[in-house]
Amino acid sequence: MQLKIALLGGDGIGPEVLTESVKCLQAVAETFDHSFTYSKALIGAAAMKKFRTPLPDQTLEIALEADALLFGTIGTLQYDNNPSSPIRPEQGLLRLRKELGLYANIRPVKMFPEIIKNSPLDRALVSGTDFEIYRELTGGIYYGEKKLSDDGTVATDICTYSEKEISRIAHKAFKAAKKRRKKLTLVDKANVLETSRLWRRVVKTLSESYPEVTLECLYIDNAAVQLLLNPTHFDIILTDNMFGDMLSDQGSVIIGSQGLLPSASIGEKHCMFEPVHGSYPKAEGKNKANPVASILSTALLLGHFGMKEESRAVIAAVRKSFKKKIVTPDILGSSKYGTDYVGDFIADHINDIDDDMNMN
Ligand code: IPM
Ligand code: MN
Repeated sequence: MQLKIALLGGDGIGPEVLTESVKCLQAVAETFDHSFTYSKALIGAAAMKKFRTPLPDQTLEIALEADALLFGTIGTLQYDNNPSSPIRPEQGLLRLRKELGLYANIRPVKMFPEIIKNSPLDRALVSGTDFEIYRELTGGIYYGEKKLSDDGTVATDICTYSEKEISRIAHKAFKAAKKRRKKLTLVDKANVLETSRLWRRVVKTLSESYPEVTLECLYIDNAAVQLLLNPTHFDIILTDNMFGDMLSDQGSVIIGSQGLLPSASIGEKHCMFEPVHGSYPKAEGKNKANPVASILSTALLLGHFGMKEESRAVIAAVRKSFKKKIVTPDILGSSKYGTDYVGDFIADHINDIDDDMNMN
């Protein structure tokens, strides 16, 4: 298969982890006889430095022309320390998601038995954790009107959702549940928010078309608790942009590190693959960021294009790195290797044919 892949490293550790992902994609290309070509483009603070905008036209052009995008991370301390800056690196990512129509953000949260000790939660509790968050990505409070009164003392963020925005991601979530353990949890705040009440109505109506899937509705505060008390309860979680952002970071800690969670952002025409974690500015350039979330995002990319065996090979190589303790310092109690060393190890083991590492 031939694929044109746009590489948007962004800020902080983004470019570093992306380098390791490209190594892995190249190992896949060689092992399975594919041809991947890459074009790099700037986004976020890195783009602001050169072009004064977090999403330059040439970046958007490259993104629109690519078959798929690999995204790094966005944000720097300079802007984190200056929250009132009117132009922010994050706006580049938000606009990109909107321009590409990437409305469905899928964040799989799966416990790897090899590193279960890394979870801050009890082993018996987290063992077998395997759920996916379907986060709506191009609507809600992230994209509503924002206002600050002239005297700077009153601020407003509007949260809007339409039936159409809810149903298109809900369909995707129900279809995913149908293929898995047939349980869908809608997370909202329907006891307070009008948008949440619309989500409930739309999702309940849709659920009639998926009789084999059991629908459960939880308020976000309760969901946050249940996720910690009983993570194996969950199969597919469907939720809005903001709640999905929060729950997914919580999910990454449950399985042991923020450096582990990948995600796929899918629209009608475009697709982008990005780690769930942030730009980790303190680790920038120190060769200590965990490349696994980004590498697992390439596994999602491969799976998205039907390259199932290739995707499994990447996951198996990652698991081999866990087993051999070739891991970065965030994976506690193990040997500590650099970002590039871990990336090299994983890329080097993609062509292993090793049945005992087989996993889905
Ligand atoms: C994420 C990130 C982004 C988000 C930020 C960087 C805008 O936290 O992908 O989870 O909130 O969507
Ligand atoms: Mn986030």
